[in-house]
Amino acid sequence: MNKKTYYITTPIYYPSGKLHIGHSYTTVAADAMARYKRLQGYDVMFLTGTDEHGQKIQRVSAEHGMTPKEYVDKIVDGIKKLWDLMKISNDKFIRTTDDYHVKAVQKIFKALYDKGDIYKSEYEGWYCTPCESFWTETQLEDGKCPDCGRSVEKTREESYFFRLSKYQDRLIKHLEENPEFIQPTSRRNEMINNFLKPGLEDLCVSRTSFNWGVPVTFDDKHVVYVWIDALSNYITALGYGSDDDENFRKFWPADVHLVGKEIVRFHTIIWPAMLMALDLPLPKQVFGHGWLVLDGGKMSKSKGNVVDPVILVEKYGVDAIRYFLLREVPFGSDGVFSNEALISRINSDLANDLGNLVSRTVAMINKYFEGVLPEERQTGEFDEDLKNILVSVKGKTEELLDKLQFSTALSEIWKAVSRTNKYIDETMPWVLAKEEKNRPRLAEVLYNLAESIRIISIIIQPFMPETPLKIWEQLSIPEDQRTWESAGSWGVYRQNSPVKAGAVLFPRIDMEKELKSLENLNPDTETEKEKQEKKEKSVAGVKLVTIDDFAKLDLRVVKVLSCEKVEKSNKLLKLIVRCGNEERQIVSGIAEYYKPEELVGKKLVLISNLKPAKIRGIESQGMILAATDDKAGKLVLVTVDGDIDDGAKVS
Ligand code: MSP
Repeated sequence: MNKKTYYITTPIYYPSGKLHIGHSYTTVAADAMARYKRLQGYDVMFLTGTDEHGQKIQRVSAEHGMTPKEYVDKIVDGIKKLWDLMKISNDKFIRTTDDYHVKAVQKIFKALYDKGDIYKSEYEGWYCTPCESFWTETQLEDGKCPDCGRSVEKTREESYFFRLSKYQDRLIKHLEENPEFIQPTSRRNEMINNFLKPGLEDLCVSRTSFNWGVPVTFDDKHVVYVWIDALSNYITALGYGSDDDENFRKFWPADVHLVGKEIVRFHTIIWPAMLMALDLPLPKQVFGHGWLVLDGGKMSKSKGNVVDPVILVEKYGVDAIRYFLLREVPFGSDGVFSNEALISRINSDLANDLGNLVSRTVAMINKYFEGVLPEERQTGEFDEDLKNILVSVKGKTEELLDKLQFSTALSEIWKAVSRTNKYIDETMPWVLAKEEKNRPRLAEVLYNLAESIRIISIIIQPFMPETPLKIWEQLSIPEDQRTWESAGSWGVYRQNSPVKAGAVLFPRIDMEKELKSLENLNPDTETEKEKQEKKEKSVAGVKLVTIDDFAKLDLRVVKVLSCEKVEKSNKLLKLIVRCGNEERQIVSGIAEYYKPEELVGKKLVLISNLKPAKIRGIESQGMILAATDDKAGKLVLVTVDGDIDDGAKVS
């Protein structure tokens, strides 16, 4: 008989900067599910990858002076290394720059066009570059992106549109008839009430203002909108649209797409509508988890806490970090990350509860029975209760994991750990050991402890890839006694060899010392004195200068006479400007923001006494001023408010 299949995905990550511990959250959760289903005997496909096209990547790579591909190659390499470090067991890693994906996206786009579900028109509205999403005037909140709160840019382009509106009724029906489709339920209601019921507009699905994307085969000015490209990964990774679609036939529809809450909208409206248009079945579930944030802010601003997953894993081990991520916050809710909370979890749950249980049990089997438990054993009080709790853990964990309730599942498992620790206090093996006649009872007590640990070590496997191996080694648990199935039975443990004490599983951490040492690791952390000094010398974080410093600069109004692109450069424009009765040649890195013809005739502000410099072999005689908003990826040139002759001094 064919094995049952299980297909789980994470979002594909933007390789636009360093990943922080929050990014590891979805991937670790998906990995736990994949491991769990494999243990249950499923044929699993676990997909992750990178989302490499779009305006944001094009801009960031230009800022680094690299081509987009050079830039993403480097970052993707780091992401793959991070997943290795976190012991992520993905079966496939897709890059949207992979050739097979690009071809399949082109086929999908063409198929939708041929069907009439994609048509050509003109887009006018707002675009949030960091989110790569389009908004209408009414959707903006205080003029900002409603998803991330950042500035949006006015966009007007000839574009292709996807008939999203056509699928509105079918989508509402699907969501209403399939309550499991979006989880948690609160997110489902949000989608129905905030997006579907008010009415869907057709979606702009191509761009012409930049070129880092999948080209539209039948209209090469256009690249495919990055979300259409990205969402398709869930089927192209399985070979959809290629000659070999065996995996697609085997694994689609996905059992679950795990996504962060801010991208639920794309996965539960745009993606299902695309699938409907392609006549393909919809994924069984989209689960929108919450965010890990820092006290008072986003993860990206690290504020005194170390959030670099590489440092954290190297310091505390992969199992501790994975345990913390999945235990600390109920999956679905937002949660606060802090180094203090992490260390406190490691000390209480891992070092104290689990680590001590294993080391005490191994030590007692060694001390009282030279490492091998005798066959002659005697049952007694408390055994039945321990056994009942332990054999029920597997079922409870399965039930919770099937609902992606990682935190509650771990809390159930840890109830069993605590119950086992309590059993030591109740039976007091060190008292039993005082009298020879108690040896059969002592043997039974230690056997029950070992058997409980065996069960626990099996059930924690989805969450912790390293610790179970260490436990099996120390307690000499043979392979046939570690199967997932066997965690539901009692009395399985049979030693082939003596137990062996090993290294402490989770060393206790001195909280105070550790927090200090983490603070020193964090370049963002300043002492109070440094902060005060900085404040005195600055306004809004900017260093103060004197009026004499400012007077050193000669700023002038100039008029752009002509402008052209610098050959073989995506970033540079060459401008000829007039400053009174003098002409100047200026090279400026603004080509991604302005077309040459837009600048002719404009009045700009020039630093006219800047030493001339050669840029790409062309002399630049000064610098024109521009305002930049790095967060929004925006740049606008500084102009003068009113009519004034060029050459006028700006002061
Ligand atoms: N590229 C898109 C996804 C396309 S899927 C077809 C994207 N990428 S991302 O890199 O910005 O985010 C990837 C995932 O990381 C998202 O699910 C996001 O919610 C998650 N996280 C990013 N920061 C996070 C936290 N601080 N906490 C938890 N998860 C967060 O979106």
